[in-house]
Amino acid sequence: MPNQHHTTPCKIAILVSGHGRGSNMAAIIDACQSGDVPASVSVVVGTRRDAPAMERARTAGVETVVLSPRAFDGDDQAYADAILQILAQRKIDLVCLAGYMRILPSSIVAAYRNRVMNIHPALLPLFGGPGMYGEHVHKAVLESGMKLSGCTVHFVDEQYDTGPIVVQAAVPVEDCDTPESLAARVLGAEHRAYVDAVRLFARGRLRTEGRYVRVLPEGDPI
Ligand code: GRF
Repeated sequence: MPNQHHTTPCKIAILVSGHGRGSNMAAIIDACQSGDVPASVSVVVGTRRDAPAMERARTAGVETVVLSPRAFDGDDQAYADAILQILAQRKIDLVCLAGYMRILPSSIVAAYRNRVMNIHPALLPLFGGPGMYGEHVHKAVLESGMKLSGCTVHFVDEQYDTGPIVVQAAVPVEDCDTPESLAARVLGAEHRAYVDAVRLFARGRLRTEGRYVRVLPEGDPI
């Protein structure tokens, strides 16, 4: 898939799951609504109507759609097709996973190659993969003795946390850190990094070459 250069403002769909709190989602919505990022969030798709993330999206005036994978009786393709239809109907350019704790159906990955981003609360390729989510990540970082942690925004491929890296930000690990205190420091970095990544995408400045995502200088002809 060639890299996108948006002549019309970039349209974003955000996917959340479960009882997600939606702080990364809110950071992206705020950045778009304030004009900081030349894009608009067209829809938030979640798995539960009562999730804090979904309530936050409604409060921000963003359309929400509830799609529970369970309602498809184990038919993963039907679930994937329902998401694909939502994305196509709204002419979505970029899909942002923000607290979407499921593997994205491969038909969506294939249809939106290098147009689906995820955020992970560690410096990939360390501390990623199945089971590495939430406080498990921060516990593993503390146990490793590393002095730095951080976050990674990456394009999504068929596996957990392995796609091309778009933006990373590091934060220090302090001697007195608990998983909770480290998580809170990383979360602040997540909000900035995710907004930065979406801004680069919306400005057409990302060029993916194999596993490497090149950031074009501002104003570079595409
Ligand atoms: C974040 O830590 C993110 O890195 C991970 O899930 C968490 C979502 O938090 N993928 P929030 O819902 O954005 O507040």
